[in-house]
Amino acid sequence: MKHALITALLASATLLGNAQNQQKAETCNQQHYVPTAENLQARNEFSDNRFGIFLHWGLYSMFAQGEWYLNYGPNKDEYAKVADAFYPHSFNAEKWISAIKASGAKYICFTTRHHEGFSMWDTKQSDYNIMNTPYGKDIVRQLADECHKQGIGLHLYYSHIDWTREDYPAGRTGLTTGKDPKKADWNHYYKFMNAQLTELLTNYGKVDGIWFDGWWDHDEDTIPFNWQLPEQYAMIHKLQPACIIGNNHHQTPFEGEDMQMFERDIPGENKNGLSGQSISRLPLETCQTMNGMWGYKIKDQNYKSAKELIRLLVRTAAKGANLLLNIGPQPNGELPATALDRLADMGKWLNGNAGESIYRTVAGEVALGDSIVSTCGKGKKAPLYIHILTDKKDGEIAVTMKGKAKKATNLITGDKLAFRKDKATGKTIFELNDRKGDEDDYIIKVEF
Ligand code: GLC
Repeated sequence: MKHALITALLASATLLGNAQNQQKAETCNQQHYVPTAENLQARNEFSDNRFGIFLHWGLYSMFAQGEWYLNYGPNKDEYAKVADAFYPHSFNAEKWISAIKASGAKYICFTTRHHEGFSMWDTKQSDYNIMNTPYGKDIVRQLADECHKQGIGLHLYYSHIDWTREDYPAGRTGLTTGKDPKKADWNHYYKFMNAQLTELLTNYGKVDGIWFDGWWDHDEDTIPFNWQLPEQYAMIHKLQPACIIGNNHHQTPFEGEDMQMFERDIPGENKNGLSGQSISRLPLETCQTMNGMWGYKIKDQNYKSAKELIRLLVRTAAKGANLLLNIGPQPNGELPATALDRLADMGKWLNGNAGESIYRTVAGEVALGDSIVSTCGKGKKAPLYIHILTDKKDGEIAVTMKGKAKKATNLITGDKLAFRKDKATGKTIFELNDRKGDEDDYIIKVEF
């Protein structure tokens, strides 16, 4: 027992050391990254958006076992045969983006190429792409055009790892897909990635963000792996200076990154085990699934309720972060019916009065555990929004607040709320009125 504990501690210390060394290897000898004015503005706009939709769609959806299916046994060449049957006859970019827009989400993040290695656009760098399927139409193009048309931000997910290509030097995943390790050739693979990224950032109009994933594949290497990120980031920023770069490495951001993301955790929480890193001052984003898996999984019908999703969005915003909520589209090209229902419910809530307490806000000062949180408008004397997320509401709540409240209203109904200052405790006590229509979140708008 004792031995096991010591081994575990040593292992985690080594891992931490590796991560730090890797980070050093990434940043040393580089000129410091200075974001352009347009990049800084893009970061602000990104934060103001607060809500986006993640879309995990690729060949893996055909197997309906989630996006990691190739990692769990299939041979890459057998797996690739499904490309010859990929025909999402019901895919309609306009329908997807319209439903997403109606949900109140302001941007999407689409998986252009996941760990399986299949490209969802007309890439000239590899034949393993959407054009060589019976469907034969560029998915990224259709989504990009539709996003631009409807005014929805476009972020592109791009995996740094590849379980199919021989030139990618495998780390700790994708080891049973039938690749020949002797054929690994990092320089060749790195060039391939940069050529693909150049296509994405040149041929599809404005790209608001690149969302990298897979760095962790080499986090157990004894010799720190050099991903050559600074050069890659510089290339992206040269092609589109306002493009926001994020990397799902579960570390504090590296030089050259413009945002920090958290996988399945609200910043400051680490229930999922991947979010122990410190929080930077960059824009923050939490990604989370609507059900359990990122890619479509036939047995995964365990959707969070609309109430849970609304509360998740509120708690995330109350930490000053965006929520990137995932949907795994079906093999036929449709978004699952339950996901569409959830989008509609969130839209009803956000496009009602609640939106003003989410968009363009920052973290608020009032926080009493998970159930009473707050957001705050921007600027001097901006209103504070206290969100009560419990099912049962008492007649009043007492909170500690800095400013002197002038007026309090129920944001959803617009009713004025009575409040008073308790001399003994210094707390402000708000009287809650009838809560019809705001069961998911009772919002007190406090003006100063
Ligand atoms: C993890 C998973 C990946 C998924 C991502 C989304 O990195 O490996 O499949 O796309 O999380 O956050």
